[in-house]
Amino acid sequence: MTIDTLRKPVRKAVFPVAGLGTRFLPATKAIPKEMLPIIDRPLIQYAVDEAREAGIEQLIFVTGRGKTAIVEHFDYAFELETTMQERQKDLEILEPTRIRPGNLVAVRQQVPMGLGHAIWCARAIVGDEPFAIFLPDELMIGTPGCMKQMIEAYEEVGGNLISVLEVPREEVSSYGVIAPGARRGALTEVLGLVEKPSVEAAPSNLIISGRYILQPQVMRTLESQDKGSGGEIQLTDAMARMIGQQPFHAVTFQGRRFDCGSKVGFVEATITLALARPDMADDVRTMLQRVLAG
Ligand code: UTP
Repeated sequence: MTIDTLRKPVRKAVFPVAGLGTRFLPATKAIPKEMLPIIDRPLIQYAVDEAREAGIEQLIFVTGRGKTAIVEHFDYAFELETTMQERQKDLEILEPTRIRPGNLVAVRQQVPMGLGHAIWCARAIVGDEPFAIFLPDELMIGTPGCMKQMIEAYEEVGGNLISVLEVPREEVSSYGVIAPGARRGALTEVLGLVEKPSVEAAPSNLIISGRYILQPQVMRTLESQDKGSGGEIQLTDAMARMIGQQPFHAVTFQGRRFDCGSKVGFVEATITLALARPDMADDVRTMLQRVLAG
């Protein structure tokens, strides 16, 4: 394999959205977690906006039962647009939901067997190209966005890249953690990956944070992999097996991450983003002061 094949442009992104979202029940019984809004945009929209900013052309959604609203959200809404036009309403608000025909593909993960399995379900569409992965419940806010920062790093080093963040050491056990090698600016060589280590066994406090650029060979690794922790097919285990075979780096994200898969993270994201919006910040600040004053 030549270095050039490990530097092909990243045009495709996989969005695994087939999880059950049990932490948000009963809200997520009939509505996908990825459609829960942070203010006025569903979570999935933030991830798709970030992908498009990074130059991603094709969006591949790995969906499951009850997840069709996600695909609908990015479809052309004929009745809505026609009615809005007749009423002379501004259609600009729908602009980010317009994906060029053919650039959105949905595949099904029939049984939620884990993140690694979800990614593997997209193998036929990914084909022989490097691809990005977005976990939409991790909301990444930065300028430029997280994936754009990663694409810039990819253009330099190629191979496989994951986004990482530093967390307090006592929190590592909830995440995938990297064993770091040489560091240069935001780039860290990855020597190993461990899923949910104990605090004592953790090789660092750099956690994997929901954005990846991977070479297509990872699909073969996923194919031949047994179930890992939690009885699921783990992406981290498959990536760990690629280390040493291909370049593997971590990019420390310059920006903020919100874990919107947890309730507190979701509320934090809502408040933070509301306070950053010129059209609402003053009102929200006044409201929060009132609430906190009891
Ligand atoms: P999570 O671990 O957050 O699981 O998955 P979840 O099912 O979404 O939520 P909880 O923990 O039950 O509340 C991380 C990402 O991987 C996807 C999820 O949709 C989410 O984007 N995923 C997970 C799948 O697509 N398939 C799976 O089998 C598991």
